[in-house]
Amino acid sequence: MEAFIRDLPKTELHIHIEGSLEPELIFEIAQRNGVTLSFCSVEEVRKAYQFTDLQSFLDLYYGGMSVLRHEPDFYDMTWAYLEKAHAQNVRHAEIFVDPQAHTDRRVSFETVIKGIHRALQDAQLKFNMSSKLIMCFMRHLSADAAMKTLERALPFKDWIIGVGLDSSERGHSPEKFTAVFDKARQEGFLTVAHAGEEGPPEYIWQALQLLKVSRIDHGVSCVEDSQLVEKLKIDKIPLTVCPLSNVKLCVFNTMNDHNIKQMLDLGLCVTVNSDDPAYFGGYLTENFLAIQEAFNLSHNDIYQLAKNAFQATFLTQKEKQNLLAELDDFMAKSITPDGRQSRA
Ligand code: ADE
Ligand code: ZN
Repeated sequence: MEAFIRDLPKTELHIHIEGSLEPELIFEIAQRNGVTLSFCSVEEVRKAYQFTDLQSFLDLYYGGMSVLRHEPDFYDMTWAYLEKAHAQNVRHAEIFVDPQAHTDRRVSFETVIKGIHRALQDAQLKFNMSSKLIMCFMRHLSADAAMKTLERALPFKDWIIGVGLDSSERGHSPEKFTAVFDKARQEGFLTVAHAGEEGPPEYIWQALQLLKVSRIDHGVSCVEDSQLVEKLKIDKIPLTVCPLSNVKLCVFNTMNDHNIKQMLDLGLCVTVNSDDPAYFGGYLTENFLAIQEAFNLSHNDIYQLAKNAFQATFLTQKEKQNLLAELDDFMAKSITPDGRQSRA
């Protein structure tokens, strides 16, 4: 099962690129930029990664990314993620960036986007790995600040497929961002939003009805509202679930308490993702392994999760078909018709 999961062609739809910044790289970039950190060693940083909720994580996350100053810093961070993802046979990634976390530190929008974009282009050339970039508005900041960020993004429309909504969920409803999401859609951006991670099902309704999102990021609180579950099923709205993240941030006490299997059994379009892998103890393979072990998932369950993700991408139909064919090829080679793993 471990080899099956590792080698399975995968797609990742919920990864904050700043959340892939490993402590070793934080130290390396801090040193070359002359930034003094409040931690003395990589070990000390890792020890501090004990979170009680989303906010306790975000405080460290925004601190960690503050070493990023120049275009090569954004390139190196992105490239480090892409190399790891490639080693796990991630064939396509849709990557979040938080531009406001950088522009508010006087790093230009252009510096951020150019560094990331160059690494994404290199991954296409070197690994034949495709990608899309989604910029998130930080919901603890104002709707006006989000609108200014959207205006900064207009010259980079070709490099940014969509907009999202992240950061502290409690007390920051999607409704506050209705106008900026309207404008983003008019400008041709697709939309997604974090909703129902720590927040109520009502925030998922708002993301669907007011922000008109194509996918919900997390969405685990949807099971509290049966009408919402029906709506998500009928409209086949993908949910980008992040199991290790949810346990690390105490949304669920243990992996056995996670509701991903319940959501799958309800017929929801569930996908598996890593969120902030450098902080939560694993990339995509480790997330699949953790849920497989907790719920004794079959090869077919894993296949369904991977297939949902390929179908939920922002790729063209043709591109989706090609990747789905690769996935089916892999299945045909790995699994016998009665669902057992072949020896080959
Ligand atoms: N930014 C980075 N990770 C996040 C998460 N899990 N929820 C909300 N905002 C985030
Ligand atoms: Zn997230």
